[in-house]
Amino acid sequence: MTDPPRVSLRPIRPGDVRALAAAELECFDDPWPEPYVVSELIAPGRFHRILVDPAGMLVSYLFSAWQYLDLHILKIATLPAHRGLGFGRRLMIVAEEHAVEMAGETLTLEVRTTNTPAIRMYESLGYDRVGHRLAYYTDGSDALIMTKRVGVG
Ligand SMILES: CC(C)(COP(=O)(O)OP(=O)(O)OC[C@H]1O[C@@H](n2cnc3c(N)ncnc32)[C@H](O)[C@@H]1OP(=O)(O)O)[C@@H](O)C(=O)NCCC(=O)NCCS
Repeated sequence: MTDPPRVSLRPIRPGDVRALAAAELECFDDPWPEPYVVSELIAPGRFHRILVDPAGMLVSYLFSAWQYLDLHILKIATLPAHRGLGFGRRLMIVAEEHAVEMAGETLTLEVRTTNTPAIRMYESLGYDRVGHRLAYYTDGSDALIMTKRVGVG
């Protein structure tokens, strides 16, 4: 078995937009178009992070947005070739550490009810199922709402 690549963590930069838009096509049925990725990068109250390999190639990425005291996970993905190696979990922990550092109270996300790998990851990190949104996605799929409380409030 080959070792997982060494990766480094950094904020997402404008120069990453093209790689992110390509990754979106690989990772999602409803990818964010490039202009939407750009709009997220310049929006206020955001926390976005990326893992890159030693050659600078994108491995995994996370977009999140503050909504008062909740850090909302907008998106997380690991490129298919790098899945199952702990990178998604690592980015989720980075987001949680940021939420704690900023005195946030919760982290919240929506996930397709059919997305077993993601739901397992969130549950293994301590996220609870707190709601269900019917036909939340454009293709009519339902969403689970999951939350993790990290603050005392
Ligand atoms: C969900 C996703 C981000 C996980 O990323 P990853 O880097 O492969 O995840 P990790 O290797 O850190 O795994 C973390 C945990 O997720 C769960 N998991 C990951 N892949 C899984 C799979 N194929 N089946 C079941 N559980 C899985 C496991 O609980 C795993 O922990 P473990 O390795 O201790 O068992 C990745 O599958 C992905 O990019 N999917 C497409 C995009 C997506 O659906 N994003 C989430 C919705 S916004």
